[in-house]
Amino acid sequence: MTYFASDFQDLDNSGNIENFIRCLELQQSLDLYKYYKQKTFEKMQLKPGDSVLEVGCGTGNDALLLANYVGETGKVTAVDRSQFMLNQAKERAKKSSTKFEFILANTEQLPFPDANFTAARVDRTLQHVAQPQKAIAEMARVVQSNGWVVAFEPDWETLVIGSEQRTTTRALVNFWCDNFPSGWVGRYLFKYFRQAGLTDITVEPITICLTEFELADKILDLSRTVEKISEQGFISQNDLTLWLMTINQCDQAGDFFCAFTAFLVSGKKP
Ligand SMILES: C[S@@+](CC[C@H](N)C(=O)[O-])C[C@H]1O[C@@H](n2cnc3c(N)ncnc32)[C@H](O)[C@@H]1O
Repeated sequence: MTYFASDFQDLDNSGNIENFIRCLELQQSLDLYKYYKQKTFEKMQLKPGDSVLEVGCGTGNDALLLANYVGETGKVTAVDRSQFMLNQAKERAKKSSTKFEFILANTEQLPFPDANFTAARVDRTLQHVAQPQKAIAEMARVVQSNGWVVAFEPDWETLVIGSEQRTTTRALVNFWCDNFPSGWVGRYLFKYFRQAGLTDITVEPITICLTEFELADKILDLSRTVEKISEQGFISQNDLTLWLMTINQCDQAGDFFCAFTAFLVSGKKP
């Protein structure tokens, strides 16, 4: 069984990559996600003819959207650690008139010379990377002077779930957060941008609220988190059953609520 918190870091060996693709496509279809993605694109200040880098491109949805900004004379280079994802992205970009390049690479060591791109962007990928500060330093290295580095990453300690069962809820939130290689990356982005020598740094918190259990479960793997905690015996089976029962009642009454905050950070290469 796959787990979104821990298995996005090595999708090609996850055993059920379709599950991750469904999750990404679901998120891409939501207005809240479209809203923040649009903001990240605007922060990059792209113009026709620019050469842009998308780090951790996944299915290639955002690489295709970036093509609209750089146009036929521009270029989009997209990297990911998963060859399967890169193949998906390549397939989707086939019909675009913009030049694309898809490269298998680790965010922590980008295979490009210094100052190679006009701007670079990363979206919900550094949470899955053990050393996100290296990734930001690499993005800063490969961007040209006056170019923008833009990141959007959650901090999973900000996850709130409307349940009266405080102990179980805290255990679930902590388990989810601590199974990411960098579940706290959101709070450190400002520092990483500074350490990478970027200037004019802006930080904008964006909170994503979900009011249906089914949707939250598909994005945040809530049921799977309960299962995993139960397997590991951290919380009693009774408490977990009670948690699920009361959350379901809450959902049926139309009162389900959960939310988390991600940080949109941008910085300029001097
Ligand atoms: C949550 S998905 C986000 C995909 C895309 N940015 C989006 O917003 O839909 C994370 C992506 O990062 C990739 N990834 C994880 N660790 C990576 C690493 N160390 N280097 C490059 N890509 C990585 C995964 O293969 C996956 O495609």
